[in-house]
Amino acid sequence: AEVHYHDFIVQATPVNKLCKTHNIITVNGQFPGPTIEIRNGDTLVVSVVNRAQYNVTIHWHGIRQMRTAWADGPEFVTQCPIRPGGHYTYRFTVQGQEGTLWWHAHSSWLRATVYGALIIHPKEGNNYPFAQPNREFPVILGEWWNQDPITVVRQATQTGAAPNISDAFTINGEPGDLYNCSSQSTTTFPVKPNQINLLRFINAALNDELFVSIAGHSMTVVSADASYTKPFTTSVLMLGPGQTTDVLVTTNQPSSRYYIAARAYASAQGVAFDNTTTTAILEYDCGCLSNSIKPAFPTLPAFNDTATATAFSRQFFSASPVKIPSPVTDNLFFTVGLGLLPCQPGRTCGGPNGTRFSASINNVSFVLPQSFSILQAHHLGVAGVFSADFPPSPPIQFDYTGNVSRALWQPVPATKVYRLKYGAVVELVLQGTSIVTAENHPIHLHGYDFYILAEGFGNFNRATDTAKFNLVNPPLRNTVGVPVNGWAVIRFVADNPGVWLLHCHLDVHITWGLAMAFLVDNGVGELEALEAPPEDLPPC
Ligand code: C2O
Repeated sequence: AEVHYHDFIVQATPVNKLCKTHNIITVNGQFPGPTIEIRNGDTLVVSVVNRAQYNVTIHWHGIRQMRTAWADGPEFVTQCPIRPGGHYTYRFTVQGQEGTLWWHAHSSWLRATVYGALIIHPKEGNNYPFAQPNREFPVILGEWWNQDPITVVRQATQTGAAPNISDAFTINGEPGDLYNCSSQSTTTFPVKPNQINLLRFINAALNDELFVSIAGHSMTVVSADASYTKPFTTSVLMLGPGQTTDVLVTTNQPSSRYYIAARAYASAQGVAFDNTTTTAILEYDCGCLSNSIKPAFPTLPAFNDTATATAFSRQFFSASPVKIPSPVTDNLFFTVGLGLLPCQPGRTCGGPNGTRFSASINNVSFVLPQSFSILQAHHLGVAGVFSADFPPSPPIQFDYTGNVSRALWQPVPATKVYRLKYGAVVELVLQGTSIVTAENHPIHLHGYDFYILAEGFGNFNRATDTAKFNLVNPPLRNTVGVPVNGWAVIRFVADNPGVWLLHCHLDVHITWGLAMAFLVDNGVGELEALEAPPEDLPPC
């Protein structure tokens, strides 16, 4: 195993898109940021220097961070932010994970532009458990604003309104041919005829789930969230923000240009979203294409095609049978959804009927501590930063996906964690609600992968729905799409001590409070305990 050293300089960089130039926050002046490539078993040491005028942290999305919660990154959860002029070195070892993950800023909405691919190759001398590709490409889907994303979120939090939607979707940072002033810079993937290509899709968009298709080519899914899957062939992918999907594409079509296109899957009713389409070009590198050959366009599902999104997610299985953790010690039931709160005095609020938007899990709307991190407070025994009384089930039961009364629309803001013993076997029902609007929520858990045992529509019914659990070969993921007006059940072993955020990966929802944290105790002995905090952990 090797140790890889990287320097990340966080800085403001002028970038021109959609006919306008403005400063965005980047790493090393690159957008998207640098791709990191390592092998399973390697150690990564990334020194981050903050030369921007905003606080920043970096999160290694999907990395298990065994005993190194200090390197996880969410601001005010595992660390205080790196202040302007400050620095922090993230140091962790990848254990047993292979495939595509990514890194992104975990402060305010900085991840809009601060992100990059994190590729974990098999151990030295090992092959992929599928046909060996001739070429590999990261394909990062993102969103672009003509405004500074921090301004967008500030406007939204100050008015309690929905934020402005993005001005473009992007592939590897480029909006592509269908947008103004963008065709010269459209991302192109050069491929050779009759070869196998591994495309590593990452959805880094802030607030949109995305459908993706490639004209004339089918895709064979082989991995998701850095876990191998039972291969299946599809003409369309759907990725929630945070999710990754690796596919094999064989260039068995006539030499030409083909669009890779992505656009939103908008499961919510009546919610504004960017309805434009981003494109990149799969270009047969045969030395035979004239410039005048226009790429062919794929068929993409309609923005509200829940049937296609659902059919896609139901094709995921682990590559081989797994040993399901059992028996369950902690049976949890979390509602995930939106809510409305009264306007603060003296403010004009942008929500319906003068309210402001909020979101919650079990009616608790998560509030980040402002001057301390939860992990540091726990480690040092500082009282008053959080309380450990997060409810294991909703405080009131109701028809979650029905016509919910307005009286249930008031989440309670608080900083609460749910405490787990080391080694606890957790089964968690994630139940979507129809409060304000029903929506598909991509729920991400830090520090763990989990098995998705089942998902369905309506209200989860323990008496009948447990029969639907896949206890043989469920997919292992770090982000699950809880279906619109539906539920998903996940299971994991709490074998990683620390404080681990669970949240909706639509940033607008985390801003409104759709988050909570698990506090996992140390086990017995040094190997089951959180490591000591690094000396350069940013001061609070
Ligand atoms: Cu990819 Cu808490 O995030």
